[in-house]
Amino acid sequence: DASDIEKGTYPHYMLKEIDEQPIVIRKILKEYSDNQGELKIDQTIVEAIKEADRLYIVAAGTSYHAGMVGKNFFERLANIPTEVHVASEFVYNTPLLTEKPMFIFISQSGETADSRAVLVKVKELGYKALTITNVPGSTLSREADYTLLLHAGPEIAVASTKAYTAQVAVLSILAQAVAQSKNIVNGIDLSHELSIVANAMDTLCEYREEYEQMARDFLSDSRNAFYIGRGLDFAVCLEGALKLKEISYIQAEGFAGGELKHGPIALIENGTPVFALATQENINLNIRGNVKEVVSRGANACVISMKGLDMKGDAFVLPEVHPLLTPLISVVPLQYISYYAALHRGCDVDKPRNLAKSVTVE
Ligand code: G6P
Repeated sequence: DASDIEKGTYPHYMLKEIDEQPIVIRKILKEYSDNQGELKIDQTIVEAIKEADRLYIVAAGTSYHAGMVGKNFFERLANIPTEVHVASEFVYNTPLLTEKPMFIFISQSGETADSRAVLVKVKELGYKALTITNVPGSTLSREADYTLLLHAGPEIAVASTKAYTAQVAVLSILAQAVAQSKNIVNGIDLSHELSIVANAMDTLCEYREEYEQMARDFLSDSRNAFYIGRGLDFAVCLEGALKLKEISYIQAEGFAGGELKHGPIALIENGTPVFALATQENINLNIRGNVKEVVSRGANACVISMKGLDMKGDAFVLPEVHPLLTPLISVVPLQYISYYAALHRGCDVDKPRNLAKSVTVE
């Protein structure tokens, strides 16, 4: 049928969509550049964000994890306090809002009922909202004041991959546009840095055999797996764990490295797989300490570090990118590893049990 043609020679949409990520980043760079090749965001959107005293990012699932990364961009690049909320929580347990809030909805489909319920509430309260979505004309796009598109192309696999990296990339461009408009000089040539990311993604797509082997080495007979990281790496750990549980049904959880000792370390047994991300210089030694703690309790640790921060024994070393943009590349091996783990278990990778691509009921 038609969907088979679209898949081309790929056995699964998910694999195709993971591989498409460098193309998507380049497409986003093109779509958000002016004729001079400078990154550009609609000025009315930039102004709406600039006027806010606080941003409230609302999303679900993978989009929520992209929002966690986006918070770092808005705070570190543009100096705007930012909160990230799970849509289903926000709608019935609305936090105390500041005087001039601005809402950013992140949704691949633009149809998630939990997010829409928040949007309806926000509009009733008279506040402005921006939707970042992959689907033009979707409900969340139509009902918000502003829309930014992801330009990721249709995402068919239930487990989101290229939409996540597209969300993170668009959020970085938006935050930097706001920073520039506020005359904040942060010395980052974002267009250049995102091109480096796209090239790094190309490189990462060449290591499929290594990821398949890592899936064998670390996840073959495990019933659970843990992902540890700090800061931006923690956000990616939550996404990596979500990917694995969604498609392989291995119980997977992401933890902030420092929280291990407050509970999760009790779960470590002989051979428990622990994926650790180390892409941030300021916490590299801390996360290394956490890895030692789990290894000394028998864990099978898989450290994925960034070039320059790598140490002997790391399982995989990522090409170097700007420290703020590491979530765009550290997620890639985790996506592939989840894919292969699911494949080895004979799971239906593109259509996992109990899950829907777009959840239109609350
Ligand atoms: C569903 C999908 C997830 C997705 C979430 C949010 O649960 O299975 O992959 O992350 O909805 O979807 P959205 O379209 O709002 O990004």
